[in-house]
Amino acid sequence: MGAAGSGKGTMSAKIVALEHIPHISTGDMFRAALKEETSLGLEAKKYMDKGLLVPDEITIAMVEERLRKDDCKAGYLLDGFPRTLAQAKSLEKMADEIGRPLQIVLNLEVSKDLLIKRITGRRLCPVCGAIYNTEFNPPKVEGICDNDGAALIQRKDDTVEQLEVRLKEHNDNTRPVIEYYRTHGLVHEINGEQATDDVFNQIVNALDTVRN
Ligand code: AP5
Ligand code: MG
Repeated sequence: MGAAGSGKGTMSAKIVALEHIPHISTGDMFRAALKEETSLGLEAKKYMDKGLLVPDEITIAMVEERLRKDDCKAGYLLDGFPRTLAQAKSLEKMADEIGRPLQIVLNLEVSKDLLIKRITGRRLCPVCGAIYNTEFNPPKVEGICDNDGAALIQRKDDTVEQLEVRLKEHNDNTRPVIEYYRTHGLVHEINGEQATDDVFNQIVNALDTVRN
């Protein structure tokens, strides 16, 4: 969990490399659907372009289908889901059904000033999905992916105006979800303002507390 630009995608890539489990990012799934121009993608675009949350029924159905795939049987990492209490309640049911209830919730906290810098400086590789930042994590050659040489792109919703809307959605709808998980003792607070490796170290320590 964490606001826009808090580092969910960056940390998820590192976590799944360590744990060998699938990375389920609802934002990435919506963007992939949009690229393929499916009806799901085109519907989601109406909301994403404004920085608003996609309606629960669409989002929940998409995650449900994904969690039923075989690769989730040994565990999974959710990035950007659940973001509403209705999504959290549905997830509880789905996770129980596949025999993989939630073990831990990582909450990345970052101040608004830093979120603005991270979001406006973010660049993405359209081929491999690598995440860069012009200030904090620049590619070796400006505008070019280190991994495959593709020209980097900027997300359409990565403007200061859209960020304001996304942060309001986070405060209004997602903070209550974090609070709900707090009452269940699942939340580990992560200081997301530190350097990438230091943030990841906090996460590794948190994961160690729930390892069997
Ligand atoms: P989504 O794609 O999830 O976007 P988001 O929540 O706004 O978060 P971001 O992906 O922008 O940020 P991040 O936390 O992943 O940060 P990153 O690691 O890239 O969702 C997009 C939209 O889809 C939503 O607005 C909504 O419309 C819809 N949607 C998705 N899920 C939904 C749901 N469950 N319900 C309804 N609608 C949903 O890092 C950001 C930048 O910071 C990068 O440049 C990175 O290099 C840099 N950085 C990261 N960590 C560090 C560090 N420690 N130090 C320095 N720089 C860092
Ligand atoms: Mg992300």
